[in-house]
Amino acid sequence: MSADYQNLSHHVAMRDGLPNAIRPTLLEEAEQDWRAHPRFAGKARFFMNIHRQLLDGADWLAQITETLLDTPNNDVSDQVAVAGLQQRATHLLQFAHGHHEIEDHGYFPQFLRLYPNLARAMSLLDGDHQVLDEALNGVETELAGVFRAPARDSTAALYRHAAALKKIMHRHIADEEEVIIPIFLRHG
Ligand SMILES: [Fe+2]
Ligand SMILES: [Fe+2]
Repeated sequence: MSADYQNLSHHVAMRDGLPNAIRPTLLEEAEQDWRAHPRFAGKARFFMNIHRQLLDGADWLAQITETLLDTPNNDVSDQVAVAGLQQRATHLLQFAHGHHEIEDHGYFPQFLRLYPNLARAMSLLDGDHQVLDEALNGVETELAGVFRAPARDSTAALYRHAAALKKIMHRHIADEEEVIIPIFLRHG
């Protein structure tokens, strides 16, 4: 795992942004200029759309599981069905795992060949993916618990995992975009 992960303050659940030492290694392209860039309409926008869908999914999951906390035990099953929890949560989990897979095995190694200076940034993002994958697996386990026993305890556990996932997903994606969007802008 990344050297940054030896330092807990750089962990995706703990940090407020990219570690300062990583900033000078990034390609210079200020975030406020991304959308006006002539190559924004390529992979940059494509990736940001995917990220938006992941964030919306994580936000939705945290919000819907929070409403379940106030749902009487007898109504949890109905509420879960009405919300389409199983389908939507399963889609989110698969989509997120798939996205990390594509980044880890496709894009990140390519970026690293192009920009060896980004080694530390890539390694941090790779470490984030491991944490995110564990968080996704935690949500999956608790989701199964809610379907097995739809009641207060299981919904509370699912909510805790969903809220944690939402927090780290937002942190990871904001930091990842700072690293990778300027690369896409340069290469289309
Ligand atoms: Fe991503
Ligand atoms: Fe990522």
